[in-house]
Amino acid sequence: MLYRRLGRSGLQLSALSFGAWLTFGGQVGRSQARELLALAHDHGVNFFDNAESYGHGAAEQLMGDVLADLRFPRDSYCVSSKVMLGAVAQPLPTQRGLSRKHVIEACHQALQRLRVDYLDLYFCHQYDPETPVAETVAAMDTLVRQGKVLYWGTSGWPAEAIEEAHRVAAAAHLYAPTMEQPRYNLLQRDRVEQEYAPLYQRYGMGTTVWSPLASGLLSGKYNDGVPADSRLAVHDELRRELLDGDAGPSALAKLRRLQPLADELGGSLAQLAIAWCLSNPQVSSVILGASRIEQLQQNLAALEILPRLDQGMRQRIEQAVA
Ligand SMILES: NC(=O)c1ccc[n+]([C@@H]2O[C@H](COP(=O)([O-])OP(=O)(O)OC[C@H]3O[C@@H](n4cnc5c(N)ncnc54)[C@H](OP(=O)(O)O)[C@@H]3O)[C@@H](O)[C@H]2O)c1
Repeated sequence: MLYRRLGRSGLQLSALSFGAWLTFGGQVGRSQARELLALAHDHGVNFFDNAESYGHGAAEQLMGDVLADLRFPRDSYCVSSKVMLGAVAQPLPTQRGLSRKHVIEACHQALQRLRVDYLDLYFCHQYDPETPVAETVAAMDTLVRQGKVLYWGTSGWPAEAIEEAHRVAAAAHLYAPTMEQPRYNLLQRDRVEQEYAPLYQRYGMGTTVWSPLASGLLSGKYNDGVPADSRLAVHDELRRELLDGDAGPSALAKLRRLQPLADELGGSLAQLAIAWCLSNPQVSSVILGASRIEQLQQNLAALEILPRLDQGMRQRIEQAVA
């Protein structure tokens, strides 16, 4: 495993991490979750990502259950939660958002579900236009000072709101966000490469990026249709976004151009896509998702082809997805 600093903080995260979205508490039951977490930890993965909204709390419950069962030393891994969307299907106004009330209560609930005394990373899951940024920053600062959260960050916030959070924190001597959690993959890259570009140097922010395979599309599994047991077969909204309209044919054409490059690298398309994310030095950790053990095995091995992504190969990848 490779380890990278989370931005300018001293936290060393594994360059590949593992998340629970749509799998834990959904496709993946307890024994498979146990196998996946054990495999990841054995390979040096030290960051497990979760959120209050995943499976309406069921993903955190399952992860907490399995982490307790596996008895990994608490200082050998980091676990996250995210607050904003609520942990129930139809949250009441006080059960969602980034108000001081919900940020604090959601943290307490996540600690219980995950069965830990503190969250290593705690994210604001999207921007909340109905809460002043200063209120959220102050609530996060409270949790950090109480030792319930070690590092807090944003996920999918507009760059200007992140800058506001830093300004507020600096002016009031509060803990500022350490990291952003954006989507980043070969097909969806603008935010990380353009909108957030000023944030890395100016504020030393790290990134824990998600959907490195665009929900599996970049593995090539959808090249000849939608397999019955796949994510896009189950989640219509993702299929519409990624495969329907113009997006699908354009993505599939890019994949056809990437395949010979993956062959030349001696890896799979999925490994090329993951290694490509890691070749961006602003990426602190790439959060993998997997519904099966073989997928996680394959994805973790992306590290083997990373050294082969030299400048020439990166340029050819750029041309293939242009
Ligand atoms: N902050 C946020 O807003 C946010 C949003 C989304 C996700 N995340 C985090 O990021 C993590 C990863 O995101 P993601 O799950 O979208 O990642 P992804 O790598 O883009 O997609 C993972 C899915 O692709 C399929 N897959 C994975 N490896 C494969 C392989 N080698 N061959 C074929 N299919 C493969 C599996 O789905 P099937 O087998 O079901 O087809 C798997 O569940 C999440 O678990 C979550 O922790 C954060």
